[in-house]
Amino acid sequence: MLTKADNDLLCRTDAGTPMGEFFRRFWLPALIPSELPHADCDPIRFRILGEDLIAFRDTNGKPGFIQNNCPHRGASLFFGRNEEAGLRCVYHGWKFDVDGNCVDMPNEPAESDFKHKVKAQTYPAVDYAGLTWIYMGPPQKQPPLPEYQWCARPDRDQTTISKWMQDSNYAQALEGNIDSSHVGFLHKTFSHPTFRSGGRLENTQQVTATRETDFGFVYGARRNAPEGDFYWRVTTYALPTFTQIASQSRAGNGIFVIPRDDETHWWFTVRPPALPDEPQRRDPGFAGILDGSAIADPATLGLIPGTWRRVRNKDNDYMIDRQMQRTYNYTGLPGNRAQDQAVTESMGAIFDRSTEHLGAADTAIIVMRRLLMRMAGRLQDGNEPEIVNHPEWFHTQPMDLTSEEGDFQRLWDQHERAFKASVAAQR
Ligand code: FES
Ligand SMILES: [Fe+2]
Repeated sequence: MLTKADNDLLCRTDAGTPMGEFFRRFWLPALIPSELPHADCDPIRFRILGEDLIAFRDTNGKPGFIQNNCPHRGASLFFGRNEEAGLRCVYHGWKFDVDGNCVDMPNEPAESDFKHKVKAQTYPAVDYAGLTWIYMGPPQKQPPLPEYQWCARPDRDQTTISKWMQDSNYAQALEGNIDSSHVGFLHKTFSHPTFRSGGRLENTQQVTATRETDFGFVYGARRNAPEGDFYWRVTTYALPTFTQIASQSRAGNGIFVIPRDDETHWWFTVRPPALPDEPQRRDPGFAGILDGSAIADPATLGLIPGTWRRVRNKDNDYMIDRQMQRTYNYTGLPGNRAQDQAVTESMGAIFDRSTEHLGAADTAIIVMRRLLMRMAGRLQDGNEPEIVNHPEWFHTQPMDLTSEEGDFQRLWDQHERAFKASVAAQR
């Protein structure tokens, strides 16, 4: 459980909050580049970390994020005219470039230098590896771009990104993404070996261990395998919120949750193209693979047109099918995404963690919260997060293997050494 003060520390990310400042030290995924499809395209509204921004792409094709309210008298720059390397406010014609410079001020005397004294708040933006990223921290602290696993691939721009908005604080979704103990329950169908005939639940208990790393932490879950071996699944968590699950995902697959404000967040799934020699791994007992595609239900992933909300959402109880719940799986919902979304949003916009009861299966969640809160606290004391200046630290690899090694620390040492050597050899 968390005290109310710690819950606020973990969950609040507006400008000036400790966690908000911590998030602002990172390049964060913001848009799919096709949201700004071409130079001088229509500007769009975008909200992140509690800030309302307008995103646009200038005549040179450069993306930019600018404050919503015009610095003159506050009209929304959403209505701005995107023209000749700048966005022109339609109220009195002030015009700003992607760096926030006021490049025209037609209602002031030509000889006035007032326009040089006005600057709009803008944030650096860059198209990179299938996403448009934003950096919202102090300009002098702007770090290099992170080199997540898929970013290091030559075909990184072919990465498939899915994005939508969810109705809860980011931390609830993040907790779900590192919580391997729900996978054997929430996401399984009754045909999976996890369940015996008649849908009787098997024990989903597993031995777990965590370890902090230079990028965040790793979380290993161990089950017994035949002949005295162990079956390991190791999830990686890279700061601030990128998680990679080993099983059923291909190399480089992962999920970001990014605070939109304290009560909603952006969800991004990242799927790099399949490698030529890559086996397609599918677990037939999952009610949908990452994207829910195992069930032919267009509503599983669909968005309500013109919005970032999914068709299945909290207002329609995710279209729960109670008959399906009796006969097919516990949730009555198809697909991992609808299942995860339903349980994490159902906690309420910001869950009061002073009322929870954490057990041994919740170790990873405790580690994640402590790490984030510690990092945010350290930043308040003037200690910058080291990872942002080590872009290669973001390059992580989860694990899914059978081994005779039963000790997680030794197992991870072996894996990390081999993985780092192979990455170094590719550079
Ligand atoms: S409010 Fe934008 S130019 Fe006046
Ligand atoms: Fe899940």
